[in-house]
Parts: sequence; C-alpha cells; structure tokens
Amino acid sequence: MSPQSSPRILSGVQPSGKLHLGNYFGALAQHIALQEQGSAFYFIADYHALTTVQDRPRLAGLVRDVALDYLALGLDPAKATFFRQSDVPEVCELTWILSTVTGLGLLERATSYKDKLARGLQPRAGLFFYPVLMAADILAYQSDLVPVGRDQVQHLEMARDMADAFHAAFGCEVFRRPAARLAEHAAVVPGTDGQKMSKSYGNTIDIFAEGKALKTAVMSIKTDSRGVEEPKDPESVIVWQIYRLVAPPAQAAEMAETLAKGGYGYGDAKKALLAAIEERFGPARERRRQLAADPGAVEAVLAAGGARARAEAQRTLSAVREAVGFLRSPVAPR
Ligand code: TRP
Repeated sequence: MSPQSSPRILSGVQPSGKLHLGNYFGALAQHIALQEQGSAFYFIADYHALTTVQDRPRLAGLVRDVALDYLALGLDPAKATFFRQSDVPEVCELTWILSTVTGLGLLERATSYKDKLARGLQPRAGLFFYPVLMAADILAYQSDLVPVGRDQVQHLEMARDMADAFHAAFGCEVFRRPAARLAEHAAVVPGTDGQKMSKSYGNTIDIFAEGKALKTAVMSIKTDSRGVEEPKDPESVIVWQIYRLVAPPAQAAEMAETLAKGGYGYGDAKKALLAAIEERFGPARERRRQLAADPGAVEAVLAAGGARARAEAQRTLSAVREAVGFLRSPVAPR
C-alpha cells in the first residue's frame, strides 16, 4: 500500500443519456463537492456500459455527453482526475485475478444482477461479472471513500470481500479497504409524477433542456385539485419538493411559508421553479455549449486523466502480480 496524504475518493459514472435533476442531486453534485476534500478520481464507466449499450455511435455519444456534463457543472481537472475506465486496461487484468478468489455464491447474491434479469436483460457473463469489474476499479486505485447511491452499497461490500479474500489467499495486504459514502441528503429526487426521478419512468427534468422542452417538463409536474386559496403543506407539493433542492435555502423556505398560508397556486410555484432552474443551471448550460464546440480540449482532459489514473493502477498491479507469484527473473545476457 502506498502512503497517501489525503483520502482517495473514487467513483464511476455510467454514461446513461441526458442528465436530469435526479442524477445531479443524487451523484454529480456530491462528486463535484468532494473534489475539494481529497484526491478524487472519477471515471466514465465505459467497460460497464458495454453490458447494456452495444452500439458504437451511441456509446461514443453517451461518453462524450457525460464528459461534457461533468466539466460544465464544475468538475475541475486540476483538482480531480477525470478519465475513461477503458483507458486503464489494468482493471481488466485485476478483474480476472479477483475472480479467482471470488465465490460464485457471492456474485449470485448480487441484487442488481437479479434486478437486471427481472427487467429483461440477457443473462450474459459480463453482466454477472459486473461486481468484479467494479471491485477492480475500486481496489486498483487504492480508494478510501466511494460516493455511491444506495443501490451500489452491496457492490461495495463485495469489493471489500474480494480484497479480504485476496489478502487471505496470498498472505499479504496490497489493497486499501474502501468505505461507501452515501449522498448527504440521500433524499431521492421526485420526478414530475412524484415517483423517484428516473429515465425509465419518463418523469425527468433534464438539466440541459432549454426553452420549451424545459418548460413543458416543469409544467407537467403532477398537482392535485386543491384551489389557489387553500393552505397546503409544502411536503405534499411535488413542485416544492423539487424547488427545495434547486433554489437557495432562503427562497425555498419562503415558498414553503407561502404555500402553508394559502393564496399561492401551483402555476406560480411552477413558474418560480422554472426560474430557479434557469438561474442555477444557466451558466453551466453556456459552458457546456462552449466545451461541445471544442472536442479536442475535452479529449485532452480525459487523456491526461487516463494517464495519471493508469500510473496509479500500474503501481497496484505490480504489487498484485508480485503477490500472486508472477515473478520474472532477469534475462541472462548471451
Ligand atoms: N456501478 C456504478 C453505477 O452504476 C458505476 C461504477 C462502476 C462504479 N465502477 C465503479 C461506482 C466503481 C463506484 C466505484 O452507478
């Protein structure tokens, strides 16, 4: 284990299409805040994405979009190492090595695998191996803290199990043991219909939507038949639940009071939410436009991040190779 002065923070991001408020408050905002608190490594999980996206232009487009989203919303490549998972092929080597100390039963208990099959995905080996690849990501970079959503906590426990199994099998400690870090207000962001905001429910408000598309999404937020004059408990108003996340706290408190007093209708609340989204994300939208016009600059960021990350993974892998007995004697001169 190499000594590290500040905690290594690591997370992978599946490129999954248009960024919505749920993605932002569920993960991205936390990632960006954490870049101030340690040595952060964030990568675009393109190897993992292959388990669901097998379409060349679509995958390339998704990866590009997620890179633009992060950079536009404040990921600072001078603070965080930002890269593509596939720029570090060492994680695939580590995946294989970890698989040799991983019980089949452990993988069979993975709830995300079962969920994916239940949703109709084909039972492929890659899907089944997903947690081993994820453990390799985490362990290759000697991660201390892994910010993830609740659905990924089991994968993190599996990564710790694999580290322990490796240490037990080979009688030496080469990996740090990572801890999960749940988003602070792990409040799920409600979608326009009040269920958890998710692309698969079609209830998202996309951050980089503009003009009419954004307005339509906000106006479609579900409301009930209570009249304008009726006092409303803000917790029962979906528009306010979203507004509270987007607007500055003082403004959110103000809307809560106004709703509770009565005389404030859903139409007004939606207009205020629309304005708050414009205000909060308008500058990022402009930055995203500029970055999109300069693909070479984005590529340079990812390539430099990939080189830094790879050097770190290579350090870990040389300890792993040594530990398992992949020894090389010096070649005798002839
Ligand atoms: N499985 C994670 C997700 O779907 C993405 C991911 C891949 C990841 N490798 C990781 C997250 C390593 C944290 C650490 O969100």
